[in-house]
Amino acid sequence: MHIDSLSIKSNIGNYSVNVCGDNAFIKEISGLANAIFIIDENVWNFHKDSSLFSLKDCDKIILPINEEKKNLETVQNLYSQIMERSPKRNLNIVSIGGGIVQDLTGFVASTLYRGVNWIYIPTTLLAQADSCIGAKTSLNFESFKNLIGTFYPPAEIYIYSEFLKTLNEQDYYSGVGEIAKLQLIAGKPHALEFINSLDKVDQIDSEIILRLIKGCLNIKKDFIENDEFDTGRRNLLNFGHCFGHAIESSTNFLIPHGQAVTLGTIAANITAKQKGYLDETEEKFIREKILLPIFKTKNNINFNYEKIIAAMMKDKKNTGQGLALIMMDNNYQMFKITDLSKQEAIETLKEMEKILGSLL
Ligand SMILES: NC(=O)c1ccc[n+]([C@@H]2O[C@H](COP(=O)([O-])OP(=O)(O)OC[C@H]3O[C@@H](n4cnc5c(N)ncnc54)[C@H](O)[C@@H]3O)[C@@H](O)[C@H]2O)c1
Ligand SMILES: [Zn+2]
Repeated sequence: MHIDSLSIKSNIGNYSVNVCGDNAFIKEISGLANAIFIIDENVWNFHKDSSLFSLKDCDKIILPINEEKKNLETVQNLYSQIMERSPKRNLNIVSIGGGIVQDLTGFVASTLYRGVNWIYIPTTLLAQADSCIGAKTSLNFESFKNLIGTFYPPAEIYIYSEFLKTLNEQDYYSGVGEIAKLQLIAGKPHALEFINSLDKVDQIDSEIILRLIKGCLNIKKDFIENDEFDTGRRNLLNFGHCFGHAIESSTNFLIPHGQAVTLGTIAANITAKQKGYLDETEEKFIREKILLPIFKTKNNINFNYEKIIAAMMKDKKNTGQGLALIMMDNNYQMFKITDLSKQEAIETLKEMEKILGSLL
């Protein structure tokens, strides 16, 4: 049963997100002709006897993944496994998993025969609330995060909140990190509402989570429909990602993506405060009421300034003389600068380390 749906306009082909109340949609998709299901190994192990039961006899590739495998080598393996099946151009790829499976299979779907039909079932909170729309597919190359990619949306997306129940704490709060970022981008009333719902978020309350997922997809829809190819306003969705990506790659992906984004958001706000765009009270309020409560990473993070700055310098968003950074002001308006100096970034990291203290 579909309880809701959202259509997204795209230059490549409009697509829709279906929010499902039960797993009847999986049974329906299991009957699709010429389909190959590419499923995250963890998701398959957790859900093969429940939500995914009807896929038992379907043609499947069960994929073990991690951030280090989000590369061309895995893509080539997938091409081989698909071609062994002598597929036709009317092949349907159905992928089931989080953002990594989305990026890998989206890239495969967009390049095989220059594009085959692709259906995506996101299973992490991050993928359901954020990455499933926007049409980006990204691969890492050497130490460059998301360097290679295409724009290619799935034809259909199905959201089923039952999958979220098996996420571990870090991966769940990784999704909450991207949700918090989008709520801040949407403005102060959204941010305040998010603070009020945090207790329910901690309890993984399905109703609140679904409401937040739909809210986030609507916020992102506005940015991607008006700038799908990321040449202007869509850049602002990278709030939290400039320091975030750098922290993520400089710590060898020890921190899940959305948790790195939470640190990146704290860092962006500290810079905005240091440069006079954001009041001290507002920076502290956002940090203490939104960002720190959702930072649940317990790994001992090696916070190496030089490595973080070196990674920031490799960011593909850099176009000017200095480092690129998206920040917010007191009115929760996002803006981009391209001339952040190394020294300013170091000042931010120093203050952040002091504030976070024992968390790092
Ligand atoms: N293409 C885009 O627009 C876009 C946007 C944001 C992020 N991303 C990318 O997405 C990736 C992060 O995605 P993610 O946070 O979804 O992580 P992920 O795909 O790495 O999944 C996180 C972990 O959860 C497991 N998992 C997935 N679903 C599960 C479930 N239902 N139950 C239990 N375990 C489950 C996975 O096996 C993995 O170990 C990053 O590579 C990031 O760059 C892409
Ligand atoms: Zn992200």
